[in-house]
Amino acid sequence: MKSHNMTYLTCIEGADGKRLDPKVPHSVSPSAELRARYDLDRIRREVSPRDIAQGPATLWRYAPLLPVENPQRVLSLGEGYTPLLPARRLARKLGLAELALKDEGRNPSGTFKDRGAAVAVSCYAELGVKTVAHNSSGNAGGSWSLYAARTGLTCVNLLPTDVQPASLQHCRATGQPTYLTENWHEAGRLIAEACERNGWLNICTLREPYRLEGKKTMGLEIAEQSGWKMPDAVFYPMGGGLGAIAIWKAFDELRQLGWVEGKLPRLYVTQYEGCAPAVKAFEEGRAECAPWGRIDIPPGGLKSPNPPGGRAVLKLIREHGGGAVAVATDEALAAIDELAREEGVFACPESATTLVGLRKAIARGWIAPHERVVLVVTGSGLKSIPTLEKPSALVVTTSDAIVA
Ligand SMILES: Cc1ncc(COP(=O)(O)O)c(C=O)c1O
Repeated sequence: MKSHNMTYLTCIEGADGKRLDPKVPHSVSPSAELRARYDLDRIRREVSPRDIAQGPATLWRYAPLLPVENPQRVLSLGEGYTPLLPARRLARKLGLAELALKDEGRNPSGTFKDRGAAVAVSCYAELGVKTVAHNSSGNAGGSWSLYAARTGLTCVNLLPTDVQPASLQHCRATGQPTYLTENWHEAGRLIAEACERNGWLNICTLREPYRLEGKKTMGLEIAEQSGWKMPDAVFYPMGGGLGAIAIWKAFDELRQLGWVEGKLPRLYVTQYEGCAPAVKAFEEGRAECAPWGRIDIPPGGLKSPNPPGGRAVLKLIREHGGGAVAVATDEALAAIDELAREEGVFACPESATTLVGLRKAIARGWIAPHERVVLVVTGSGLKSIPTLEKPSALVVTTSDAIVA
């Protein structure tokens, strides 16, 4: 199929309109808003949703809208094309017409981070990059380590001391250089200095354009799996904000291609109460997040006291509607059980915040009963076992003790 052998990337463009060569690796300040741009007119002429439907059951089915030069030689562990599961029992309970769960726990390392890693590592392998470095609350560190190992790239990870053991194991098992810091607020600066000193590519959130392109495929899939119709609202657990920005970039490109019509969905982001800079900014009507002080959240994602994508996410909410909701840790942990009990989906605590956020949004009158809502379940609960209540069950010696 012609369309699956081509990419239509033309340039990367900054917020100032300056165009940069996509064949050279770039790492800039997140405020530069570097974005990959495609020849959408040509894609409209040469590719159709039917071509996409014949592609592989991975995110590489969207190769024409991805930045790699040669989609036949990409680095894949089978990431993406995760199911959009109807959540009928929860929808009934919440009084909603339609609710769906985008289950990202199916990705190779157990979270949506694999999308960004697969696409960006493929790009940087093509561009001849040898070493990349970043700070990560854990999931991206584990994911990038696995993809880097597969391609021979070195990925330097700086993680917080309370990182989830599963993510740290991914880094350890692959042998990628991995360090911990107790001062998470300084992690970005330490990485920037180490990159400067050693000539490594800084791949921290929104410093380079290609992780975003990988995460964009969540939005492409939500649209395709909805029959190229937009949901009314999407709930996303926000850390740095990259995933939300990426999903709306996908929706915007699809609208420009004419593959979807009408309004883009409203964006609702959720954060833990113990680190909620975007919620605070939204509630105070500000365009920018103020840095958050003491972080008090469970190990894992959403540990972003100064979200690099804060301004862009708040802009998406202003443009398309939506909101930002703070969720207590206990509420998130209870929502994990509710998702498992009602729908059989075992979510990580970060993504369980979306169910709590939805309930609060309904109570505030933000969501109408006839609307179609998607919750992005960004990762599997299997990555967070030590954070969850220790499970126990009765030890039995006779069959009559075994009851249903
Ligand atoms: C499981 C999980 N969900 C959501 C997020 C938020 O990611 P983003 O940077 O796209 O806001 C993270 C990372 O912080 C994460 O690990």
